[in-house]
Amino acid sequence: MAQFVLPINSRIKKGKTFKAEGATHVKRFNIYRWDPDSGENPRIDTYEVDLDTCGPMVLDAVIKIKDEMDATLSFRRSCREGICGSCAMNIDGTNTLACTKAIDEIKGDVNIYPLPHMKVVKDLIPEMTHFYAQYASIKPWIQTQTPPPPDSERLQSKEERARLDGLYECILCACCSTSCPSYWWNGDRYLGPAILLQAYRWIADSRDEVTGERLDALEDPFKLYRCHTIMNCTRTCPKGLNPAKAIAEIKKLMVIRR
Ligand code: SF4
Ligand code: SF4
Ligand code: FES
Repeated sequence: MAQFVLPINSRIKKGKTFKAEGATHVKRFNIYRWDPDSGENPRIDTYEVDLDTCGPMVLDAVIKIKDEMDATLSFRRSCREGICGSCAMNIDGTNTLACTKAIDEIKGDVNIYPLPHMKVVKDLIPEMTHFYAQYASIKPWIQTQTPPPPDSERLQSKEERARLDGLYECILCACCSTSCPSYWWNGDRYLGPAILLQAYRWIADSRDEVTGERLDALEDPFKLYRCHTIMNCTRTCPKGLNPAKAIAEIKKLMVIRR
């Protein structure tokens, strides 16, 4: 998978090193640390992890570090199987999910930073409030204008349902949006690939009856048209989705209706 390098990497000072005394199968994890209450600048702490007593995924190592070496390390996680999206972080230069990233895929030290270009709450925890507000702004639910059938749900054909493949699987981890240069610079107004993929998920749903209104809401020089097809989003998605294609589909619909 292609990687991009965080411009901040080289500027952050080294912090403490935590040794794995007596271990013979050691991997070094260099992890971004920042505590807003400390008044200090960010630093990189190094943890030597004994892989003989650690699970196979990066999240296993991060949990082991917190449990056994340094309880002050902060990060989000929940499902540990690539479903909740909460353990998204920048690992080895790529935004991905810590719980589905295998340690043995990484040569040398494992460098871990929070998702890039987001405000940091603490350590590996990004501030997601704006991202979720953008998600709410696209009204991510079915909207209808006709009454439902009296004796059944609103049904779809197999073909209509298949149009949601590649869209419904999005777990809103934000790996794509935080890898997108356009989102880095214009994230206050550009919706970014995750939210635009979600917007297209509802546009593409045959049961939804407000497609025109949804397109009207996106017809804006910043919300949609800041995508310049750089493709970082699609390269980085840990679920193998293609947000750039979803954005292109929205742009096509904009042209067709003109
Ligand atoms: S499209 Fe992929 S990278 Fe983007 S939020 Fe959804 S699952 Fe995460
Ligand atoms: S294709 Fe569009 S959304 Fe994806 S990284 Fe490039 S500019 Fe961002
Ligand atoms: S812990 Fe849920 S996706 Fe990683």
